[in-house]
Amino acid sequence: MAFRGLNTRYIPGNTTEDTTVLGQFIPKGTRIMGNIWAVHNDPKVWHKPQDFNPNRFLTSDGKELLKFDYFIPFSMGRRNCAGEGLARVEVFLYFVSLLQRYAISAANDGTVVSLVERFGLILQPTDAVLIIF
Ligand code: HEM
Repeated sequence: MAFRGLNTRYIPGNTTEDTTVLGQFIPKGTRIMGNIWAVHNDPKVWHKPQDFNPNRFLTSDGKELLKFDYFIPFSMGRRNCAGEGLARVEVFLYFVSLLQRYAISAANDGTVVSLVERFGLILQPTDAVLIIF
């Protein structure tokens, strides 16, 4: 019996054995991360995914939140975010506090997010985002 967690060559989140997914060979020890961006920007499941449109998450009367299998900001599966419950409460309190106290608008003709982005672990807008509080 092996205690993989105590094996110095085992890194949590890496594959523990050779495997094949949809014909793609993935050797043991490979770091696997879900491509959340691809899921959230898939036009097959989202209407105009690049548009900032919070209404897509609400019922037509705006009173209820809709749930979608393809909305996965905290990833999915066995390694999904361990802090999701806390994070959801934090984000809710943070934004409600801001919205209660400030009128928020975008400078420069209403464009908030630059269409040109810099790729990394996360996507960053290359232009400064100007928001007026
Ligand atoms: C809006 C806030 C947050 C977002 C969007 C977020 C998102 C994520 C994502 C996408 C992952 C990767 C899951 C994967 O590898 O498939 C992750 C992992 C993780 N998150 Fe978060 N997270 C947030 C806040 C937090 C907070 C507040 C905590 C702790 C208090 C936390 C703890 C963790 C831990 C421990 C993991 C690693 C889970 C594992 O590998 O088993 N996160 N998170």
